[in-house]
Amino acid sequence: MNLTVIILAAGQGKRMNSALPKVLQPLAGQPLLAHVITAARALKPESIRVVYGHGGEQVKAAFPDSDLQWVLQDQQLGTGHAVKQAMPGVPDEHMVLVLCGDVPLVRPATLSALIDATSKGAALLTVDLKDPTGYGRVLRDGAGRVKRIVEQKDATEAERQVTEINTGIMVLPAERLRIWLDDLRDDNSQGEFYLTDVIGMAAKDGTGVAAVKAASDAEVSGINDKRQLAVMERLLQRAQADALLEGGVTLLDPARFDLRGRLTCGKDVSLDVNIVLEGEVNLGDGVVVGPNCFLRNVDIGAGTHIAANTVIDGAKIGRACRIGPFARIRPESVIGDQAHVGNFVELKKAELHEGAKVNHLSYIGDAIVGARANVGAGTITCNYDGANKHLTTIGSDAFIGSNSSLVAPVVIGDGATIGAGSVVTKDAAAGELTLTRAKQATITGWKRPQKRD
Ligand code: UD1
Ligand code: CA
Repeated sequence: MNLTVIILAAGQGKRMNSALPKVLQPLAGQPLLAHVITAARALKPESIRVVYGHGGEQVKAAFPDSDLQWVLQDQQLGTGHAVKQAMPGVPDEHMVLVLCGDVPLVRPATLSALIDATSKGAALLTVDLKDPTGYGRVLRDGAGRVKRIVEQKDATEAERQVTEINTGIMVLPAERLRIWLDDLRDDNSQGEFYLTDVIGMAAKDGTGVAAVKAASDAEVSGINDKRQLAVMERLLQRAQADALLEGGVTLLDPARFDLRGRLTCGKDVSLDVNIVLEGEVNLGDGVVVGPNCFLRNVDIGAGTHIAANTVIDGAKIGRACRIGPFARIRPESVIGDQAHVGNFVELKKAELHEGAKVNHLSYIGDAIVGARANVGAGTITCNYDGANKHLTTIGSDAFIGSNSSLVAPVVIGDGATIGAGSVVTKDAAAGELTLTRAKQATITGWKRPQKRD
């Protein structure tokens, strides 16, 4: 079947009380609209048209993808008016699936079932709600056929008792839809052109309306305010956590787990509480992550342990490493197997080769640290001269004494030793001891100054 998807995303979302347009509000780290677009793409439609309005350029800019067609709805005159803006160019023989930019969890399988239910007529996704307040109600005739939808604000007291509601998601034959949209009127309590009225028209003109009930209300819940956004976030996080648990990942508390991107895990990965994962995160077999860690765009090799309160962003970490607690690893860092990065160590664009150790209180930026080199506590690479960044290269098996400053550009040779407290401004020879501090001296008989009366 030839399919066009129209996503309604022009509303302002007043109830969000936010400068950010509603469809850009993040859910699991992705704009609401991104979730809907992902579901739409899974159906492989011929085209996806997004109706935008409020925060127009901002919304468009968030989705530079070339498979999306953007349709401006200048004034928000209602959902029917919105769909009408997107109809020019839609071939008559297409079925049109209408999705809402603020209903993010709808599953492709549910949408496929809805499309299959049409048999050239219209199909409506509905759900039964304990509390249907605010939603359009689905009215059926004596034989159970869908007759029309009535909005909450236009409904009689009796109609408001109906608990089956319109999810806002429907499939309509393009040729008929065009005619119905032309016939819409705004003589209702909100003065809007309601898309929901086309359901009544389809029922009346013999096209027919199939109704499919969604399996859960969460899947078709719309998000209108921050409270609903927060509830949905937890639901989605719990579903992601459950999928990981099923896949064999240990989560010490699935209620305290936040994945805002994509996570792949090897066998026997264990994640402690309050871990936030963003972007693409890949964890090898047996990786253990301690509590309160933040990992974004990270690749971690098998057997590596990340201890508590570690922040890693844009780095590749080898196998059997020991990282943290309290380490901060910044973008473009690459850490070899069996390396150690300890507490209060900051790495930026640093390459640590196999078995290198930076265990305490260091800043290592724009640097290469050779295999098995040991960087003592408090070592700083002075990579910035106020204008440009420079490289520090530390050879393999080098030993950097504590509290040293390595003023880049500088090369510490293989196997070199730097005496503690040195400020190294020139290259240090391989295999030799280099130290720059003054010689220790004792001034015998020296007295501390006395306080004057
Ligand atoms: C709509 C339905 C209601 C349904 C509910 C489900 C209508 C008239 N009512 O009500 O039956 O139960 O969704 O969540 O359709 N939009 C535009 N342009 C407009 C108006 C809206 O693009 O001019 C977009 C919004 O951004 C939103 C969607 O359409 O993504 C739904 O609009 P909204 O105002 O939230 O409709 P509801 O009152 O929730
Ligand atoms: Ca809504």
